[in-house]
Amino acid sequence: MNRRRFWDYFNRLQGIGRQDNGVFRVAWTDEDMLARRELAEILTYEGFTAFRDGAGNVWGLWTPKPGQEYLVLGSHLDSVAGGGDFDGVYGVAAALETLLSLRECQFGDYGNVAIVAFADEEGVRFNSGLLGSRAITGALTRQEFMTMADASGNHSLEDAAAAYGVTWESLSAIRPVPICAYLEIHVEQGPILEERQIPLGIVNVIAGRSQGYVRFTGRQNHAGTTPMDKRQDALLAAAQAVVGLHEAVMDHECVGTVGDIIADPGSPNVIAGHSAISFDVRAPKDDIREAVLRRWQASWAAGAIVQRVDKAAVALDLMIRNILRDAAARLQIPTMFLNSWAVHDAMILAQSVPSGLLFIPSAAGVSHARDEWSSPQDCEIGVMVFEEAARTILTG
Ligand code: GLV
Ligand code: MN
Ligand code: MN
Ligand code: MN
Repeated sequence: MNRRRFWDYFNRLQGIGRQDNGVFRVAWTDEDMLARRELAEILTYEGFTAFRDGAGNVWGLWTPKPGQEYLVLGSHLDSVAGGGDFDGVYGVAAALETLLSLRECQFGDYGNVAIVAFADEEGVRFNSGLLGSRAITGALTRQEFMTMADASGNHSLEDAAAAYGVTWESLSAIRPVPICAYLEIHVEQGPILEERQIPLGIVNVIAGRSQGYVRFTGRQNHAGTTPMDKRQDALLAAAQAVVGLHEAVMDHECVGTVGDIIADPGSPNVIAGHSAISFDVRAPKDDIREAVLRRWQASWAAGAIVQRVDKAAVALDLMIRNILRDAAARLQIPTMFLNSWAVHDAMILAQSVPSGLLFIPSAAGVSHARDEWSSPQDCEIGVMVFEEAARTILTG
């Protein structure tokens, strides 16, 4: 790897949408689009074939062997609102540096390499996470694309995406490059590697996730004059569901989060007529996640309406896991195998091609927050092993 070049490009991409209180490159905003354009410009400047596909995924292709399949190296540029400096963008910068290094070393004798920054990995506003990777593998349905809305129910994914040129027509026109394998590198976003003082993790299983919104309807009324026993309080129903989820996941190998809540009309002296909560439930075992959700759902107030997207847990390719382990061993970097509780585009690619995912340590396990941090040394170790593994795949 060329360290200076890696950090130059990392800083260029990572600086876009950065504010005092974190990174704001939320999908379907100008900042996110700016980052995509910047990556396409870098790729073009470096002499690769660069383009944006019908989902907004940005690709860079190096094709020394026309007609052959590509080893694809990918991650995402979008962030949560107030996110950290590394989530996603580290993996894109690592993929870019690997592509540049492989070309320099003439690894084109062995095959084609592509990098991709997937669109809307985070799914912050519309539950549309992993959209770009699902679009290229055919896992995104028209029904889902056309019906996803934000928590309020008033803004649709369809409209937000259309403002940036992504429509169902453009999505269905995608003809992805042929792919032989997929590799991704990411910050762990959890505490395990740091606690064990191991610089590199190789992911076995990516936990499944159910995510969505529940909307409750009550009756809007006066906060002073309405007796307590005559209320239909939509916000109370939401609050009970928040506590209910926390209780439902307890004592199971499962996590559950309500990260957002809305009351309508949202006024101190008005009983809420409508409310909505987001939910996010994850487990490495699908039957546990399903059971927790069933139990929780049964406790909701009558008439609740749910918008829900499920992703099953995925085991990553055994051969690629071993390639990653051996690549690290050749560079004398200690590794461990672990599961990912965060989702990644690798879980979508893994359903159609052999896929692997590498983690570097996250300070104090903090992520989806401004304080997310990984040391420069760990970042560089990650790129070196990533590159070594890519080389192994290319040379068969
Ligand atoms: C995405 O980063 C997720 O795991 O929620
Ligand atoms: Mn994330
Ligand atoms: Mn990420
Ligand atoms: Mn993620």
